[in-house]
Amino acid sequence: MNVVDEIKQKIDIVDIVSQYTKLQKSGRNFKATCPFHAEKTPSFFVFPDKQSWHCFGACGTGGDVFGFVMKKEGLDFSQTLRLLAEKANVTLSYQSAKTTSEERDKQNRLIKINELTAEYFHYLLLHSSEADAARQYAQKRGLNDKTIESFQLGYASPGWDNLINHLMNSGYHEDELLSAGLIILRDAGGYYDRFRNRFIFPIRDIQGSVLGCGGRTLDDSLPKYINSPQTVLFDKSNVLYGIDRAKSAIRQKDSVVIMEGYMDIVTAHQYGFENTVASMGTALTEKQIYVLRKLSKNIVIALDADQAGLAATARSIVTIDEQIPKEHWMPWATPKTYNELVKYEIQVVEIRDGKDPDEIIRKSPEQWAKLLDESQPIIDFTLKKEIDNLNPTSSQDKSAVVTKFLPILSQIDDPVRRAHYVQKLAQLINIDERFLKDALFNIQNQEQRYKRAKGSKISKSPFDLTASSRYLEEYCLTLLLKYPDLRSVGMNLSANYFEQSENKDILFKWQQNPDMNFIQENLDPALHGYFDHLLQFDKQFPPSLREDKYISVSDCCDEQIAQKHADLASN
Ligand code: UTP
Ligand code: MN
Repeated sequence: MNVVDEIKQKIDIVDIVSQYTKLQKSGRNFKATCPFHAEKTPSFFVFPDKQSWHCFGACGTGGDVFGFVMKKEGLDFSQTLRLLAEKANVTLSYQSAKTTSEERDKQNRLIKINELTAEYFHYLLLHSSEADAARQYAQKRGLNDKTIESFQLGYASPGWDNLINHLMNSGYHEDELLSAGLIILRDAGGYYDRFRNRFIFPIRDIQGSVLGCGGRTLDDSLPKYINSPQTVLFDKSNVLYGIDRAKSAIRQKDSVVIMEGYMDIVTAHQYGFENTVASMGTALTEKQIYVLRKLSKNIVIALDADQAGLAATARSIVTIDEQIPKEHWMPWATPKTYNELVKYEIQVVEIRDGKDPDEIIRKSPEQWAKLLDESQPIIDFTLKKEIDNLNPTSSQDKSAVVTKFLPILSQIDDPVRRAHYVQKLAQLINIDERFLKDALFNIQNQEQRYKRAKGSKISKSPFDLTASSRYLEEYCLTLLLKYPDLRSVGMNLSANYFEQSENKDILFKWQQNPDMNFIQENLDPALHGYFDHLLQFDKQFPPSLREDKYISVSDCCDEQIAQKHADLASN
């Protein structure tokens, strides 16, 4: 949610407009004589559901609460933002990785701290007399010198303040070490090292900057691993262990294998399976998939096949949707859990007997290569699992499988692929294929009816309308920002097409000068984060939208206007 939305959530347009003109209730809405032009009969309306206003009289304009205050007080967007932020009791923050140089310096310092930490732990593993047990542990796990070196594996010695002292001697402050997640505040005051007597895996981003660490016990004590906490730099749902070392192999082999753990990755790389990364024990997130898909579209998930592992597979399927931060959530761009994974053609490597890739590879790299060869599309994998559990003579079981699978199959756009699975399912449960085709046809019809019903509802539900017009506006702006050849179309756009004042403001600046730096310098700093989001926004579009930039801006706006008309007509 950008700061403008946050303010809008906290103030009511009805309250604000009431301060300028007397509102009368009119059904769900309010009307008044227009505060912007002289009139006898009220033609000025406020729509509480949409938090917007419109004058149907001489002005013929409207907008959100920001637009109202700007117009009424003669303020610019930035001034209005400050005014309303104060009214709404919202603090304007200027956080954005790209924008403020202060913020950037701070992040760079945190990276530097993490890098010094990785170097220090690595040095201890190689040279400290305290690290004998850790060196033995590395040997026991079969890690060779080259691997230890290239992953910069390390050891945190047992004391309470070794790292604190080391980093403070290097000129860093305790509060910075705390922000980096490397030390912990004592209740009684003072700090202590987070990582003590643990084998250390530095965690890097795709460029190789160290963002945090994972640390394993050398024995069976719990917790087995501790990781850096969520920090400005480190967000577990966002990183993939090993990505820095895997990226070129992923491109080269045009395939990426996702495993669960640190050890799996380190071992896989040691044995030449370099296109592997780890999700670090959590469900895959959409953000991770996006990063990987830029490197290769062929994604293979390899997870432990014990109960937990299977549950993780199921988890990685189900929770992919929930992990998306809401500000990136878009009605048309959100992978719909399983169905989208099916579309992505994600493959699964099935690992049995409670092993994990680390053990298998170490025992037999050939066996691992074979398992990789045998990986199957997630849909085949799941289908097979279902069928394995099915009683072949039970009509009920068969029916349950069909009920579960046909809706998934109906999501596959490619008719050949769809037909392939219909055929396969029919064979597996020994049912006439024609029957499944009919059933599939019915489902597709139903879905279309449902979509149409939902579509026609949009114009009636003001909330949906606002949400979708917002996306259209953002989409439209992103296209303008990204594609210089849309300049002439964009110059003909009236800012009045936009409902959201922040979008109007950005469009207005872009029309003055399309140079990114110009826009950013002239934009209120509180909107810099939102501006960055717009520049990233097209990455979230499904490929068909992303690649066809000629789904033109004017189309977006026409649709928006059409929706607006529908809405007004129903009011
Ligand atoms: P595993 O328990 O499978 O660990 O957890 P592993 O990587 O195979 O480690 P070894 O072989 O026992 O040494 C998989 C991943 O889940 C995360 C870690 O990223 C781990 O690599 N995890 C696990 C934690 O973050 N904390 C834990 O306590 C356990
Ligand atoms: Mn393991």
